[in-house]
Formats: sequence, structure tokens, C-alpha cells
Amino acid sequence: MRVAVLGGGRSSEHDVSLASAEAVRHGLAAGGHEPLDVRISHDGRWTFQGEPVALEPAGGLLGADAVFPVLHGPFGEDGTVQGLLELLDVPYVGAGVAASAVSMDKALFKDLMRAHGVPQLAYAVVRDGEPPRLGFPLPAFVKPARLGSSVGISRATGSKELAESLQLAFRHDPVVVVERMAAGLEVECSVLGYSRPEASLPGEIVVQKGDWYDYEAKYKDGGMELVVPARVPDDVRERVRELAVQVFRIVDCAGLARVDFFIEEGGRVLVNELNTLPGFTATSVYAKLFDVSGVPYGELLERLLELALERHRRERAYRF
Ligand SMILES: Nc1ncnc2c1ncn2[C@@H]1O[C@H](COP(=O)(O)OP(=O)(O)O)[C@@H](O)[C@H]1O
Ligand SMILES: [Mg+2]
Repeated sequence: MRVAVLGGGRSSEHDVSLASAEAVRHGLAAGGHEPLDVRISHDGRWTFQGEPVALEPAGGLLGADAVFPVLHGPFGEDGTVQGLLELLDVPYVGAGVAASAVSMDKALFKDLMRAHGVPQLAYAVVRDGEPPRLGFPLPAFVKPARLGSSVGISRATGSKELAESLQLAFRHDPVVVVERMAAGLEVECSVLGYSRPEASLPGEIVVQKGDWYDYEAKYKDGGMELVVPARVPDDVRERVRELAVQVFRIVDCAGLARVDFFIEEGGRVLVNELNTLPGFTATSVYAKLFDVSGVPYGELLERLLELALERHRRERAYRF
């Protein structure tokens, strides 16, 4: 297959995306496919082999059989690129417009989880210019609603800190989520599929320096150790996998997602977030969890391409 691999993009995760996209291109080539290296610059311009890419509604993309948007964060993982790919009418890997947008927005996502009775931490949505009404005690984590990679996130223990944390988060987004601080483990679980999604073994995030999974821990060599499977009792492990698939379905996700959890005392499993386009090198958490679960990187790519075609076929079967 001829596969357009989109890398770079407008978000602060531009470089992370380039690394993932390179790994995807290598993996596709190793599987006998023809990857096309489509670059998106920091200011949002698309180029292929140094030339601007012409985009025409219903015109596909460079004659590709499928597109793999390996883009993280705003303008990549939030439904915007997915909308463009829908208009181009080309099969693409991963979640569609609505699933991408809801998963990128922590306020919308948490409200949706609450509507479905999915266990999660107590939270409050605060809008810029409005006073925070928490309804739970500090300490809390304060997060911009639509970012990733821990950017703009901080912990607040007192009310003065809370004001500072809100100020920081509001620099990134007019909507902020304040959440009760979890005490316990951080566990992540990969999901692959479409109509019958499957979960990997859960992995445990062990931060090596500092006490939470901040930007440095995520991207600095040796910042985090992933323990697979997570060191939790069997029933908790199964509960995580079951919830990962349930959340994937609620959001109406497709292809891949990594669902992140907190596990508190007594084995209480709480959903934190769903990432529709998690880091995707062979050593990223997403791929490592499946590798240990018996699905190597090359096979992940094959399955994701098949799922992209299946979804495109199925969606086109409906009349609008
Ligand atoms: N309520 C919380 N309690 C404890 N730690 C938290 C909480 N919320 C976030 N964190 C820490 O901050 C990190 C980033 O938060 P997260 O909600 O996953 O945002 P991002 O989308 O940036 O990954 C988490 O991996 C965790 O280490
Ligand atoms: Mg996270």
C-alpha cells in the first residue's frame, strides 16, 4: 500500500511527532509498503519532497491508499486533521472527528465519562474570568482542557498555589480542569481495533525523578520506567483492560488509543484520559504494551491499515 505518513504539525509536540512518523515510515517500508513522507511545518504548511501539497476536496492525498496522521496535540489529534481527511475522502488510521475532539478536550471527556458512570476523580471545570468552585479539598491538579504532554499542568496544595496554577493553565486555554489529586499508581493500557477492540496488558508508569509524570519525565531519557505488566492483582489488571475497551467504545474510537488510569488504595481503578494518537515509536508505551502482549510493531501497523480501510468502507456505506 501507498501510505501518506503525516509528521510534524503545529503543536508543541512537533518533534515528538517527527520521531513517531519516522518510526512509522520505517515500519511500513519493512512491511513492503510505500510510505510517503508528508511534513507539516510549525506554521501548518504541508510539503512532500520539498513541494507544497495540493489539497482538493474528494481528491485524496498524493494518490495514497491510506493516510497515517502521526500528529499529536492540537491540529493533529483533536479532529481538525481528521475533518480534512474526511473531506479529501481518503482512508486514515485512527479515530474520526468527534472521537478525536472529545478525547482531546479534558472537560468534554470527563463530562462524557460521568454521563456513562465511568469511575474517575472528582473534578471541576473552570472558565477564564469565573471563580473556581471545586467541591472537593486540595491538593489538586490543574490542567488546560485541550493540551497534552503535561504542558501547562501543575499541582496546587494551597489556595494561593491554586490561583497561580489557574493562571498558568489559562495561558494555554480558556477552559481549565481542576481535579482531586490521586494517590496511587499510574497505569496505561493500549487498545487496538474498531468493531471489536482489544486491550493490551496494562503497564505501570514509574517516574524516576520528581513525583509526577511531567514533560521531563515523558521525554527525557530515563525519565520514566515502564513496568509490564503493572504490579497489581489479577482482578485489577482485568478491570483496567475491561474499562479501557469500554471507554474506547463510549468515545466511539477507531484504530488505536491509549487509555490512562490511576489506581488508588484498595484497587480502585479510575480513568484519567484517552489519547487517540499516543506516541508511536517502537519504544513508545503504546507499542511496548502490545509487544509484551504478543503483537509486535510491524503487525500493529498492518492491523491499523486494515482497520483504516474497514472504517472508510463502512462509513461510505451509509447514505447522508
Ligand atoms: N488528579 C491527578 N492526581 C495525580 N496526578 C495527576 C493528576 N492529574 C494529572 N496528574 C499527573 O500529571 C500527568 C499529566 O496529566 P494528564 O491528565 O495525563 O495530562 P496530559 O494530557 O498532559 O498527559 C499525569 O500523567 C500524572 O502524572
Ligand atoms: Mg496523560
